[in-house]
Amino acid sequence: MKQEATTITAGGERAVTTDHEGRPIPLYTADDFAGLRRAGRLAAETLDYITPHVVPGVATGHLDRLIEGFMRDHGAIPATVGYKGYPAASCISPNHVVNHGIPSDDKRLARGDIVNIDVTVILDGWYGDTSRMFYVGDGIGVRARKLVELTYDAMMAGIAQAKPGNHLGDVGHAIQTLAEANRFTVVREFGGHGIGRVFHDAPHVDHFGKPGQGTLLVPGMVFTIEPMLNAGKRDVKILSDGWTTVTRDRSLSAQFEHQVGITEDGCEIFTLSPAGFTRPPYE
Ligand code: MF3
Ligand code: CO
Ligand code: CO
Repeated sequence: MKQEATTITAGGERAVTTDHEGRPIPLYTADDFAGLRRAGRLAAETLDYITPHVVPGVATGHLDRLIEGFMRDHGAIPATVGYKGYPAASCISPNHVVNHGIPSDDKRLARGDIVNIDVTVILDGWYGDTSRMFYVGDGIGVRARKLVELTYDAMMAGIAQAKPGNHLGDVGHAIQTLAEANRFTVVREFGGHGIGRVFHDAPHVDHFGKPGQGTLLVPGMVFTIEPMLNAGKRDVKILSDGWTTVTRDRSLSAQFEHQVGITEDGCEIFTLSPAGFTRPPYE
């Protein structure tokens, strides 16, 4: 185990470990975990709540207003509003949009679309960040369904490696191996992130990597695992709005995100769905 120290981090004074390049990573206490559990649960409940509204013809701007209302009704603030200038309470990313799709009244979902909805709440100062894929109506193509299922399985394979003594390279390797064995590609420009009293913190969590490499996992670390898999090439580009990321070849992309805390013998997933929703179809 690396030696622990106490440092002033972005989230206040805490015990820390360090990433593989020496950056401090805050370690959260059992009391902190209680706050994170509540925030994670509310984020997951927000996705549970929005699920029946994800239907053909709905505008993503409408979904975003429902999401913001639900968060505020439950005493939370949407973390993304105003974050680095981001304008909405959620990211809604259909089909070839990889992430950070901006909700709009001009953007209506259509039967056969696959779509990611990503929400982050701040509840009593604690951040909860999660995303899932949704099927819009029926008529989802075989390849699209396979991509969505595999992306969920890849996230869970990464989570299975999130335990003390393992390294972040073990997490990334598990995701990459499963993806590539099924001829999907892994987006490299975005990763998971430390999260707690701030939105994005150390460590950076790649969704690819080599076993035994990268940051050593120790109890008290909290981060997201949020792989983006493409049906075509892995290359992406950001559109002129400065946010919307799409696949360069316009192939389909899928993403799931859970937020986890490392425990003595594994990890706790803070963002499990109270409704039991894992991957679509949700019925
Ligand atoms: N929730 C996203 C994540 O998983 C971040 C969205 S930042 C925004 O890290 F500004 F695009 F909303
Ligand atoms: Co995240
Ligand atoms: Co997110």
